[in-house]
Amino acid sequence: MGKQYSKYFAPSLKDARKRVNKKTENLKFSIPDNLIGLGNKLKYHLKTYGCQGNIADSEKISGILELMGFTPTDSDEEADLILFNTCAIRENAENRVFGELGRIKSLKKAKPNLILGLCGCMAQEEKVVETIKRKHPQVDIVFGTHNIHKLPEYLADAYLQKERVVEVYSQEGDIVEDIPVKRGHLKKAWVDIMYGCDEFCTYCIVPYTRGKERSRLPEDIIREVETLVSEGYIEVTLLGQNVNAYGKDLQIEYTFANLLDDLNKTKIKRIRFTTSHPRDLDDETIRVMAKGGNIMPHLHLPVQSGSNTILKRMNRKYTKEEYLEKISKLKKSIPGISLTTDIIVGFPGETEEDFEETLDLVRKAEFEGAYTFIFSPREGTPASKYEDSTPQITKKERLLTLNKLINEGFARGNKKFENEIVEVLVEGASDKNEEIMTGYTAHNKVVNFPGNLSMVGSIVSVKIEKAYTWHLKGKIVK
Ligand code: SAH
Ligand code: SF4
Ligand code: F3S
Repeated sequence: MGKQYSKYFAPSLKDARKRVNKKTENLKFSIPDNLIGLGNKLKYHLKTYGCQGNIADSEKISGILELMGFTPTDSDEEADLILFNTCAIRENAENRVFGELGRIKSLKKAKPNLILGLCGCMAQEEKVVETIKRKHPQVDIVFGTHNIHKLPEYLADAYLQKERVVEVYSQEGDIVEDIPVKRGHLKKAWVDIMYGCDEFCTYCIVPYTRGKERSRLPEDIIREVETLVSEGYIEVTLLGQNVNAYGKDLQIEYTFANLLDDLNKTKIKRIRFTTSHPRDLDDETIRVMAKGGNIMPHLHLPVQSGSNTILKRMNRKYTKEEYLEKISKLKKSIPGISLTTDIIVGFPGETEEDFEETLDLVRKAEFEGAYTFIFSPREGTPASKYEDSTPQITKKERLLTLNKLINEGFARGNKKFENEIVEVLVEGASDKNEEIMTGYTAHNKVVNFPGNLSMVGSIVSVKIEKAYTWHLKGKIVK
C-alpha cells in the first residue's frame, strides 16, 4: 500500500497560460511555532538546476529548512531529505533529473524515513507530475514555483502524517516577503525584483512555469539591498525574466530605470541585472546605466536569432536592425560596455540563410560571450507544434559554427584589457593552485593573479599582462 495523499493538486499548463486580472497581494512569510524544530537532527541535500531565479529560490528554501532545524549536506547517503529544485527550459535538463530520481530509488529502500521532494519549474508541468505518479512513487513531496513558502506544511505532512503531497498552483501566487534566505555567497547576492514573465516567446516554457509578471515593491528591494550593504555585501544581481518590464504592474509610476537610479544612490559597490529584453530596454535605462557609479558596464541582452523571419516566429517583437540600433546606442552611451547574449539555433524552419543572418548579427554586434542552445521543443508551447524539417545533425553543425565565432568574440573582448589596470572582486583561490586568486572585473571578465586568501571578498587593482580566451592573467598593483 502506497502512502495516501494529504493534498493532491496537479498543475495545468493550459491554465497557466491564462493571465487573470487579479491584484497581487504582498504577504509576509510566517511559520507555525510547532514546526520550528521539526528538522532538528535531520540533514537536507538540496540540488538546484536552471537559472539564477532558481538559485535564488533555493536560497529561500535553504533559509526555510534551516529555520526549521535542518542542516545541509552534500551527500545523498547522509541526507534525511533530498529536494530537487528543477528546470524545464530544455529537455536535457529534465532528463537529468529523471535519471537522478531513478538512481536514488535504492537509497529510499535502505532508509525508509528518507523524504524525497521535487519542486521548481518541472513541477509546473502536468506531464512531469503524471510521470512521477506512475514511475517514481518514491517521491513524497511535489510543489511548484508559487508556493515555496508552504514548504514547512508539506514537510509536516510527510514526516508527521507520513503522507504524500502534490500541490502545484497553475495561477501565479502572490509576492511573499520576509522568507528567510540562506545566501550562497558572502559578498555577492541575488535579489529578485520581479517574478514571472508575460512575453510568451513561442519556444519558451517560463511564462507557464513562473506565471504572470509581478514586481516587488521598490521599498522592499531597496531595503534588502541596504541590509546587504550593512552585512558586508559588495555586489547584487537584480533578477527577473524581463527586468525591463519591472514596475509595469505596480500601482505607482515607477520603472526599472527609476529602480536602478535609486539603487545607484545606495552604498552597494556593484550592481548587475539579468535578464534584459531587447524590445523593452528603454532610453531611460540606458541613460541611468551611462551614469556609471555602481552600475556595472556589462549587459546580457539575449537576441535569440539574427533572422527577422525567425524573430517574428519566436514572437520576440523586434527586428535584427532594431536590435543592432539599440546596441549601438548602448555602446555610444557606455563606452567599452561588454555585451553578451543568448542564441537558439535550429528553431523550426530555420534555413541556412536565416542562420547566416545570425552569424552576420554576431559579427556586427561584437558580443563578448554567449550562451548558445539547440532548440528544444517544450510541450504546451506554440513552437513545439511548428513544422521542423532540419535534421539534428545540421543543427549541431550550426551550433559548432556559431560557437567558434562566439569564442573569437570572447577572446577579442578579453584582449582589450591587456596592459590595463582593472578592479577585481576576489572570489577565492583558483581550482588548481592555492596561491593563484581568481575574481571578476566590472566588465564581468575572469582574472587570475598571484595572491593569498586574505584578499577574498575585497576589490583589488590588477594590471593585466595577458589575455586568454576564457580569462585574463595579471599582477596586483600596489
Ligand atoms: N528570461 C530570459 C531567460 C530565459 S531562459 C530571457 O528572456 O532571456 C534562458 C535562455 O534559454 C533563453 O534566452 C533562450 O536562449 C534559451 N531557451 C529558452 N527556451 C528554449 C528552448 N525551448 N530551446 C532552446 N533554448 C531555449
Ligand atoms: Fe522566456 Fe521570452 Fe520570457 Fe525570456 S522573455 S523568459 S525567453 S518568454
Ligand atoms: Fe529553468 Fe525555470 Fe529558470 S525553466 S531557466 S528554472 S525559470
